[in-house]
Amino acid sequence: MSDQKIIKVGVIGAGRIGKIHAENLATRVPGVVVAAIADVNLEAARELAAKLHVETVYSDYKKIMEDKSIDAVAICSSTDTHADLIIEAANAGKHVFCEKPVDHSLAKIDKAIDAVKKAGVQCQIGFNRRFDPNFKKLRDLVQGGKIGDLQILRITSRDPAPPPAEYVKLSGGMFLDMTIHDFDMARYLSGSEVEEVYAAGGVMVDPAIGAAGDIDTAIITLKFANGAIGTIDNCRKAVYGYDQRAEVFGSGGMAATANNTANTSVYSNADGVTSEKPLYFFLERYMESFVAEMREFITAIRENTPTPVNVLDGRKPVVIAMAAKRSLQENRPVKLSEIE
Ligand SMILES: NC(=O)c1ccc[n+]([C@@H]2O[C@H](COP(=O)([O-])OP(=O)(O)OC[C@H]3O[C@@H](n4cnc5c(N)ncnc54)[C@H](O)[C@@H]3O)[C@@H](O)[C@H]2O)c1
Repeated sequence: MSDQKIIKVGVIGAGRIGKIHAENLATRVPGVVVAAIADVNLEAARELAAKLHVETVYSDYKKIMEDKSIDAVAICSSTDTHADLIIEAANAGKHVFCEKPVDHSLAKIDKAIDAVKKAGVQCQIGFNRRFDPNFKKLRDLVQGGKIGDLQILRITSRDPAPPPAEYVKLSGGMFLDMTIHDFDMARYLSGSEVEEVYAAGGVMVDPAIGAAGDIDTAIITLKFANGAIGTIDNCRKAVYGYDQRAEVFGSGGMAATANNTANTSVYSNADGVTSEKPLYFFLERYMESFVAEMREFITAIRENTPTPVNVLDGRKPVVIAMAAKRSLQENRPVKLSEIE
C-alpha cells in the first residue's frame, strides 16, 4: 500500500450527497486525498473543507478541471450539471465518479458516453444500492443459479417522507429521481434487461406534489429479456420509515431481504410484540454502500479494471424511467424500443 500512488480527487458539490462522498473519500477510502472541494455556494464548500481539513476550496468547479495534479472528480452537484461535468472532466483526462441520474436527456447522456470513451477515462455512476450487502446477496444467488430460472422479481422502495414540492419541480419526476435506483436494481438483480414497462401511479401523499406535475405513489410492472416479470412499488411516504426490500423467485427457490434496523431486539408484553422501525432514510440505510462504491471506483482507477457501474449502466435506467413516464401518461404498456 505504502508505495502506491495517492489518488487525488476533487469533489464538486457540497450538498447532502457531496458531504457523504467527500467524508468517505477523506476518511474511509485508503490511498486517497480530497484535493479540493468546489460549490457555487462557497460557504457550503468552505464548511465541508474545514471539517475534512481540505485546504483548497473553489466556487468555480473549472479550477478543479484545470488542476493537472487532480486524478479524478466526484460529481455531486445538481442533476442538471452532471452530463456537462462528465464531458469536461473526461476532456481534462480525469476519471469520473458521477451521481445518478446522468441526465434527463438521452442526447446529453450520449455525448457524455462519447467523451468518456474518447478520453479512455474511468467513469462510475452512483447506483450505490448495488453495493448493499443484502441486495448483493440476492444478486449472487441469482447469478449462482440458486434461484433457478428467475420468474418473479419484487422490489419495494418507499421513502419515509416526501421532498418539498420545489424539489419535485426540478427532479424530472419520481421515476427519474427516485425509481431510477429501483430500475437499476431490477437490472442488477435479474442480470437481464428490461424490455417493457407498465406503470400505474397517483398522488396520495401530498397534493402539492400533484400540483407540481408529479406523482408520489406508483406500481410499475416490468418484463425482462430473459422472460422474467417484476414489480416495483414506490411511495414517497411510509410512516414507519425507509422501506427497502427485494425478493427474487424462480424454479429453484426464493430469496428475500428484510429492512435494516438499528438493533434486532424484539419486545413482547401483554399488548403485543414490537421491534425497531427500519433505519430512517438513505444516509442511515446505505452508508456502508456509499463507502463500498467509492472503494471500488478507486480500485478501478488503480488497477485499470472496468468500473462496476459504468456510464452505459447510467443510461439504461433513464430509458426505463422515460418508458414508465410514457406508460403512465398514455395508460398502456410501453416497450423500451419506443423510447430509443
Ligand atoms: N445515490 C444516492 O442515493 C443519492 C442521494 C442523494 C442525492 N443524489 C444525487 O446527487 C445529486 C445532488 O443531490 P443532493 O441531494 O446532494 O443535492 P443538494 O442540493 O443538497 O446539493 C447539491 C450541491 O451542488 C451545488 N451545485 C449546483 N450546481 C453547481 C455547480 N455548477 N458547481 C458546483 N456546485 C454546484 C449546490 O450549490 C449544492 O450545494 C443529485 O443529482 C441527486 O440525484 C444521489
